[in-house]
Amino acid sequence: QLNAVIFDLDGVITDTAEYHFIAWKQLAEQLGITFDRAFNEQLKGVSRMESLERILALGGQTDRYTMAEKEALAHQKNEHYKQLIARMTPDDLLPGMLDLLRELKRQNIKIGLASASKNAFTVIERLGIREYFDTIVDAAKVQNSKPHPEIFLTAAEQLRVDPSTCIGVEDAQAGVAAIKAANMFAIGVGDKEALKEADYIVETTADLTYDAIVRAFYRE
Ligand code: G6P
Ligand code: MG
Repeated sequence: QLNAVIFDLDGVITDTAEYHFIAWKQLAEQLGITFDRAFNEQLKGVSRMESLERILALGGQTDRYTMAEKEALAHQKNEHYKQLIARMTPDDLLPGMLDLLRELKRQNIKIGLASASKNAFTVIERLGIREYFDTIVDAAKVQNSKPHPEIFLTAAEQLRVDPSTCIGVEDAQAGVAAIKAANMFAIGVGDKEALKEADYIVETTADLTYDAIVRAFYRE
């Protein structure tokens, strides 16, 4: 039985995954490190400091900066990111997402948010969709980052539903792994190859209709 759908935010509800990419890319280039979209897949769903560590490792610069310098670099990236999200409006919801949230509400299925971003509340507010969520679990409320299942398990607990009755929706490798580790049904949005661990994959959110996800869930 399907009781809840728990969504990742960046790259699923809105295209902030692109803003994270732009902001990290600019910082990396400033440090003389080039990275492409394939590498960026490994940053999706990963916390701010861990993302910075992975970029520095990519450039062979792991030991070049002090902790204080790393914090300054992460801060710089975040300031750029905040500029990018400052102008977001409800028009920035990805195709089909508002319809899906509405239909889930209508069908009395609980809705959760599981985002590793400290900016999650700001983005949800800007999109005007706060009212749809029965729970929001963000980076401030968990110890372990994706692929650890904690963030999805915490959401299920707060919704008072068994994880096996939940669908998790993710655009990140680490996120799909977290959903599976939480014993939930995993829906991946995006690249088939990158998200191959998912139980069901759609290319874009336009394919994420209520009927499609319910059919996929009960087929298992
Ligand atoms: C999400 C995104 C990552 C981002 C992380 C932290 O998981 O997919 O790209 O690095 O959140 O976001 P923050 O807004 O806290 O820097
Ligand atoms: Mg994401």
